[in-house]
Amino acid sequence: MQPPSSIAHHHRFFIKTYGCQMNSYDSEKMSDILKSKLKMVETNSIDDADLIIMNTCSIREKAQEKVFSELGRWKKSLGHRQAVIAVTGCVASQEAEQLIKRAPIVNLVLGPQTIHRLPLMYLAHLMHKTPQVDVSFPEIEKFDQLPQKTTESVTAFLSIMEGCNKYCTYCIVPYTRGTEISRSYNDVMNEAKHLVAKGIKEITLLGQNVNDYDGTIDQTGESANLALLIHAISHLSGIQRIRFTTSHPAAFDQTLIDAYSVATSKLCKHLHLPVQSGSNRILSLMKRDYTCEQYIDIIQALKQCCPGITISTDIIVGFPGETDDDFEQTLKLVDTIGYDHSYSFIYSPRPGTPASSLKDLIPLNVKKERLALLQTKLKESAQYIAQDMLNRSQPVLVESVSQHLPGHLMGRTENNRVVQFQGPEELVGNMTNVTITQILDNSLRGRLEHTTQPHAESIEI
Ligand code: 5AD
Ligand code: SF4
Repeated sequence: MQPPSSIAHHHRFFIKTYGCQMNSYDSEKMSDILKSKLKMVETNSIDDADLIIMNTCSIREKAQEKVFSELGRWKKSLGHRQAVIAVTGCVASQEAEQLIKRAPIVNLVLGPQTIHRLPLMYLAHLMHKTPQVDVSFPEIEKFDQLPQKTTESVTAFLSIMEGCNKYCTYCIVPYTRGTEISRSYNDVMNEAKHLVAKGIKEITLLGQNVNDYDGTIDQTGESANLALLIHAISHLSGIQRIRFTTSHPAAFDQTLIDAYSVATSKLCKHLHLPVQSGSNRILSLMKRDYTCEQYIDIIQALKQCCPGITISTDIIVGFPGETDDDFEQTLKLVDTIGYDHSYSFIYSPRPGTPASSLKDLIPLNVKKERLALLQTKLKESAQYIAQDMLNRSQPVLVESVSQHLPGHLMGRTENNRVVQFQGPEELVGNMTNVTITQILDNSLRGRLEHTTQPHAESIEI
């Protein structure tokens, strides 16, 4: 008798991903598990897909609306063709069964912590033709079940924890992704070792709040924090760069600041540290657990420890009750820090969050004006940093040949800017030095220097 999984062999699947890097990581894992468990094949269009997956984000209302409009478009373009539709991620977690009521073309609904059950749920649907919903939080089970990365690339995400315990008053994440849970140190290190063995040169450690990482070390029963993890990964042979995202200013301790100054550290001189507002009154209403002054102190300590470090951030404008004066303080903070490329958003009330019951009396046009002012300032600040890179040599990790410019390579600087420059294909996967020759709106152009950086000697621990 055939194993039940064989009924899906060579079925095609298509994944559309919205939202954050955690979602990109989850989508890649869903792709790997469908290929390895069911021998399915990935396709880049819904037209020939048997299984169509939408990995969703609900951080702001607009992100959530996109889900339903995209499902409407899929329904239209499928016409009478039969395909199984799965919705995964935060909108799935939030809506659960309601999602199928609202969009009956949906057959499978999975939360961020149950994506590893997708193969079984797909088979169950094929056999019984009934909708399958699982948005539970089985905690760390997901990571035990997911296969190792199979695709070839130079950079990779590595998820080190799930969920968030901070409960910022505007944020839906603790409800959709669950409470904080760290993977064990050994699990994370095994995945990191597998990645570098496959040729990965840059690892981005992922989590909603990675500086709360607290992973048990199997051998001793003690726990490792983020700084220790960075230290251990820095020593894996072949690793060139480490990044992490996202961290929270309230738990940014000295060990993490020090991690930037350790000679062997492979941490990039760049940090994304969301501030959300420059007003202490608003920070307190957001329940962020730090003041603007404490935030500035962390940045100053980092700049001292790691000269040349660049900082990017997330800022919300129009939080309920934000006055002109509160907003002015945010603009002032942007001037004080001198941010690199950052993100800003108009506050979006999310169902079930404490802030959604606050009276929101700021007119939309005022919110839009504030956003425009802030974005202009942030853009100027990022441009200033880019201008400072002009005619200077930058260490660049070469990621691929350029998709747009023949004969060119594409790499990233430490502050995560895309740079394109002429060079031989053999440099892909290597660190090299590039002099920046031109600043464009969303990327840089450069000239390859002839001295390629030697790989630092590293030992495996
Ligand atoms: N409204 C607007 N922006 C939000 N963010 C999180 N929740 C909301 C919300 N309800 C922003 C924060 C966070 C980023 C990922 O999204 O700035 O850092
Ligand atoms: Fe949301 Fe705050 Fe947790 Fe970030 S730290 S995920 S903003 S609750």
